[in-house]
Amino acid sequence: MYNKVIVFEGIDGSGKSFHLNAASNYLKKKKIKHIKLREPGGSKNSEKLRKLLLSNKSDFEKKTDLLIYLSARSENFHKIIKPNLKKKVILIDRFVDSTKAYQVYGKQISLNFINQIHKYILNGVKPNLTFVLKVSSKTSRKRLLKRRTKNRYDNFSQSFYDKVQKSFLKLAKNKKNYFVLDSSKNDTSLEKEIFKITSKYLKIK
Ligand code: TYD
Repeated sequence: MYNKVIVFEGIDGSGKSFHLNAASNYLKKKKIKHIKLREPGGSKNSEKLRKLLLSNKSDFEKKTDLLIYLSARSENFHKIIKPNLKKKVILIDRFVDSTKAYQVYGKQISLNFINQIHKYILNGVKPNLTFVLKVSSKTSRKRLLKRRTKNRYDNFSQSFYDKVQKSFLKLAKNKKNYFVLDSSKNDTSLEKEIFKITSKYLKIK
């Protein structure tokens, strides 16, 4: 089996986590071995770093933030992704493109620096399929307002999220393994679309 890394990207409130779970249930039904991961988070140590990063009590400087996101990714890669790469489909809620969208385009940190570190920690492993979930500002706001507990990254201004969403769309442009899908409506048509693309890619009957 070759690498099958499937990533879900999008701004906060875009429904990535919901659709990743739906895709996971679909794979389960089809008896396809897979693992679910989220970033920041995933492995035991990365979940500790997630807590630190997203706590409302934290007030890290943006470069410190970046280095913690990358540390969590490095742990995940070495402890979970790499050992499973040839054995299981790997579904990830956010990956490298989130760092580019939030830290590079959102917070103006050097892309070159981030690319260099990714080369060093990921050994050239890239997602094979990426779903970018696009959402209207009205829907994302509504979804974020519903959250009982808000983390440090749930409270940015609408203009920040607009900028981040635009960056995801830019990153997806003209790439054939990226699918930009509208997640503004709360119906099952998007789930079905994701199953269809995933089945075609994984050759599931
Ligand atoms: P996530 O758990 O996906 O939040 P949500 O469920 O709200 O979509 O991610 C938490 C936050 O971390 C999110 O606001 C984006 C941010 N983030 C970065 O800024 N850079 C990164 O590299 C990653 C992985 C996440």
